[in-house]
Amino acid sequence: MPPLSDPSGPAIEIRFVAETGSTNADMQALALEGASEGLWLRAGRQSAGRGRMGRQWEGEEGNLYASTLIRLCPADPPAPTLALVAAVAVHRGIAEFVGSDAIRIKWPNDIMAGNAKLCGMLLERTGDAVILGIGVNVAQAPALADRQTASLRDLGAAHCDAQALLERVAAHFAGLLDQWRHFGVEPVARAWQEHAHAPGTPLAALLPNGQHIEGRFERLDHDGALVLRLADGTSHAIHAGDVFLI
Ligand code: BTN
Repeated sequence: MPPLSDPSGPAIEIRFVAETGSTNADMQALALEGASEGLWLRAGRQSAGRGRMGRQWEGEEGNLYASTLIRLCPADPPAPTLALVAAVAVHRGIAEFVGSDAIRIKWPNDIMAGNAKLCGMLLERTGDAVILGIGVNVAQAPALADRQTASLRDLGAAHCDAQALLERVAAHFAGLLDQWRHFGVEPVARAWQEHAHAPGTPLAALLPNGQHIEGRFERLDHDGALVLRLADGTSHAIHAGDVFLI
């Protein structure tokens, strides 16, 4: 497929494979071989998709499974804030098909339809590269024991397919990455906040060490951490974990 043109950054190239284990694993290998920013890899199916917190990501046909890489520069904002860039890009892409009122961002970068998860993202660091993997339930919502899921089809996007969605997401991501590099985290954090849970929203967090914390959303920290206001009035910054709307 020829590169899509984007005036604000490097050329976007989307490669396609019918099936692979994990596009994140493949993109890690491509990064080590010297692949450039702007490259995306999309798979029709994944057999060993990786999710956050060591989970698996189901790989049904018709959904979007794609990864890209970001080459970190010394002057870049903190790398974890790329999670916000990705969230806003994917939110904008999906909103083009279902409207922005139907979806919301949940920290750090899940896209939700009500309490149901539509999309998950995984950022993994490999040397100076960050691999961003995106999974969107376009055609099918996998049945999961521990959370509700929804698909774009469920939201009425009958004509959206994974390739069309990725082209829009990749274009938004290129523009937002450029903005992040040149103007810092602030504008992207503002865009994130416009489409995420409002301050005061009750949230529960399950931390990687198994600790469970409940509080109300206070704000995003400068490094992208989630700051919760706990019942005792103290603030608690969360850098990693699973967050649930309660
Ligand atoms: C999550 O747990 O919410 C993150 C899921 C990320 C899944 C995507 S699918 C494409 C890419 N390749 C992977 O192996 N994982 C990510």
